[in-house]
Amino acid sequence: MRISVIGCGYLGAVHAASMAELGHDVIGVDVDPGKIDALQSGRPPFFEPDLERVLRAGLASGRLAFSTDIAAVEGAAVHFVAVGTPQGPTGAADLQYVDAAVQSLVPHLHDGALVVGKSTVPVGTAARLAPQIDERGATLAWNPEFLREGFAVQDTVAPDRLVYGVPHGPAGAAAADLLDAVYASALAAGTPRLIVDYATAELVKVSANAFLATKISFINAMAEIAEVTGADVTKLADAIGLDARIGRRFLNAGLGFGGGCLPKDIRAFQARATELGLEHTLDFLADVDAVNLRRRARVVDLATELLGGSVAGRRIAVLGLAFKPNSDDVRDSPALEIARRLADAGALVSAYDPEAVVTSRRLAPDLDYASSTVSAIDGAELLLVLTEWQEFRDLDPVAVGSAMAGRAVIDGRNCLDRAAWQDAGFDYRGMGR
Ligand code: UGA
Repeated sequence: MRISVIGCGYLGAVHAASMAELGHDVIGVDVDPGKIDALQSGRPPFFEPDLERVLRAGLASGRLAFSTDIAAVEGAAVHFVAVGTPQGPTGAADLQYVDAAVQSLVPHLHDGALVVGKSTVPVGTAARLAPQIDERGATLAWNPEFLREGFAVQDTVAPDRLVYGVPHGPAGAAAADLLDAVYASALAAGTPRLIVDYATAELVKVSANAFLATKISFINAMAEIAEVTGADVTKLADAIGLDARIGRRFLNAGLGFGGGCLPKDIRAFQARATELGLEHTLDFLADVDAVNLRRRARVVDLATELLGGSVAGRRIAVLGLAFKPNSDDVRDSPALEIARRLADAGALVSAYDPEAVVTSRRLAPDLDYASSTVSAIDGAELLLVLTEWQEFRDLDPVAVGSAMAGRAVIDGRNCLDRAAWQDAGFDYRGMGR
């Protein structure tokens, strides 16, 4: 099938390459010439395992191409809209890129074409956009994306569910048939597919992210309780997680959530509820946000305490800057924010991340970056592990201790073997344990 993907950021670039991997003919379009040049020459503009492979395979097969010219989408049967919906100044989602993408696409739509929204949007957006698409004899569907950074290709090629938001009647049925053809291989593998209305599809996406954020903040609230009672939140999570109704996944206490999705999505959802006249319905999400942000302050306080009341002039090694491992994304990253706060308080921070130094440097040019774990920890009085990369989990505490000037570690992701670090003479501090 001939497919276009409008917007080649994280979501769009992965979607375009993955659709080519599934055998479709794909044209990816973006207004940013730098991004298009990189993609067209097989270089992903961000770190995502497996993306380079599918990108290069797609380009080599001749089934994948990129362009800055929106007219290149002409003739495609299905047009995916995958542009960003960043947080605006009020917390609400900024829809200017979605609106611009649809506006630029409309003149190129032929009768019977399908436009598929993948961007995360406030409920009501699809209904607002549909008339200009209907006028061209085309149809709009909303098909939210649930990919996780670090697993983005896998999540796109083999998702755990497919949700189609379509209009009622024959146009909606035809839209669902076209989407079934796009996702034929996932459907053949038994992937559950739900056909719903626009509003439900839009809400599935934001409510899933709100639920995940709530789960993380719930366990981080328990971590706060554990910190004053001497309980161990990791054991608590293991125990409650064995109840199948609760489940152990997404119950890791630590620095909390960051990234380009969960923080902005819970804020946009609250803003939308307020617009709908439901100003108290999602009040709990403000608490979810507050618990989450308190974890960052907690680490700064703990570092200050471990260094005897002030971090000024003290050498601190920070391992991990990305918002999670296997990613170079530092948008709203708890790790990068903590490193910056410590540096702002006068600490001599040496920060390292296997993939996220370049992206961190763009946001925090004044921070001191090390080129390896070894150089980051050299002579440090305190070590902070803030992103749970495998490389950091595997550190030998004895070797680390002999390279450092002090023996204190904050395990911001509860990812280290506490006993091994204590045996190596470290004052070990986890999160909620
Ligand atoms: C999230 C959702 O998980 C995806 O389903 C969704 O498609 C995506 O947002 C999106 O809206 O596009 P992602 O932002 O890639 O995916 O990252 P997550 O794996 O959800 O992690 C988010 C943050 O939560 C990270 O900072 C992570 O360290 C933190 N986290 C996660 C915890 O603190 N504890 C946990 O138990 C799990």
